[in-house]
Amino acid sequence: MADNVHFTAIHFPKLLLFNPLGFFSFKSPKLFPVSHARIRLKSTPSSFMASQLQVSESATTEEFDHSSARTIGEHDLLIVGPGVLGRLVAEKWRQEHPGCQIFGQTVTTNHHDELIKLGIDPSLKWTEASHKFPYVIFCAPPYQSEDYPGDLRRAALSCDREGSFLFTSSSAPYDCNDNGECNEDSPVVPIGRSPRTDVLLKAENVVLEFGGCVLRLSALYKDGKGAHAYWLEKGVVDARPDHILNFIHYEDAASLSIAILKKKLKGRIFLGCDNHPLSRQEVMDLVNQSGKFGKKFEKFTSSDGPLGKRLNNSKTRQEIGWEPKYSSFAYFLENL
Ligand SMILES: NC(=O)c1ccc[n+]([C@@H]2O[C@H](COP(=O)([O-])OP(=O)(O)OC[C@H]3O[C@@H](n4cnc5c(N)ncnc54)[C@H](OP(=O)(O)O)[C@@H]3O)[C@@H](O)[C@H]2O)c1
Repeated sequence: MADNVHFTAIHFPKLLLFNPLGFFSFKSPKLFPVSHARIRLKSTPSSFMASQLQVSESATTEEFDHSSARTIGEHDLLIVGPGVLGRLVAEKWRQEHPGCQIFGQTVTTNHHDELIKLGIDPSLKWTEASHKFPYVIFCAPPYQSEDYPGDLRRAALSCDREGSFLFTSSSAPYDCNDNGECNEDSPVVPIGRSPRTDVLLKAENVVLEFGGCVLRLSALYKDGKGAHAYWLEKGVVDARPDHILNFIHYEDAASLSIAILKKKLKGRIFLGCDNHPLSRQEVMDLVNQSGKFGKKFEKFTSSDGPLGKRLNNSKTRQEIGWEPKYSSFAYFLENL
């Protein structure tokens, strides 16, 4: 490791944002205060040649140990993007493998203190270190990355040749917008038709080239988060009510991800959904009828726009031997 002082900059160009309605939009980088921060890497006399990373604008400091002295155990896990899903994966993984090490790679140091409290060893650069991890899950969304396929490539390279690598992608690429049936084998949107699906498909292709697996997830939700919470907050939404959506609870996405990781399969695509598609109107009718929320949703106001799809992942369930805990959105509401 160099003892020199290095200067580099985090730079987000135009950012691709995904919202719970299922659309991407472009936003300026000013949303992320760290985006123009200068990072200074310098050596410290501390153990293992650790480097100290100082971000001048956010005044956060991170110890980053990328020395080869660290020993990686057979059940250790690297989570690229330890956000809502990644943290649930970490929690469930640790229950199955007490004593394992769990590493988390993020874009900023904003949540490193939270991750440390959860027993996740955070860094901005695990995938640039010389370690090879036996289990790697990439569960970061695309919107904070200027080179999402490149991020996937680095993550794949950090996975041991015999290890297991999983990318949590999205069901968005399935080429269906007439509320029709879709499953694991349905055709996807051709590259070049939409920036939203291009970024996902290019990332998936990198993963498959490396022999990793892809899990295409439908809309994720949990208490207080997801499309239903977003629409409830807004009350009136400019979207068509008859668009069919597909759901998977965050906990089920985590349990399915872990089940796939443990199978150590190579180059496969799976689908994560609860097999209970609902129209937007049906979702919000269930929310209103549940009596579990302080507010009432008013209405969807549009009659234009593409319709959705009806996903079925029976093949994934059979092959992985997995069933969701939350069998439907209605079941989730009943048990809230
Ligand atoms: N939400 C949905 O409805 C939905 C639907 C289909 C698929 N998915 C996929 O499901 C996965 C999990 O979603 P989620 O809601 O749990 O995500 P999330 O909570 O928004 O994840 C955010 C975390 O990812 C980190 N991150 C973002 N970009 C990164 C990058 N390029 N490299 C490393 N870390 C990065 C963030 O770092 P900082 O802490 O520095 O901000 C943060 O820790 C994602 O792959 C997403 O695309 C989501």
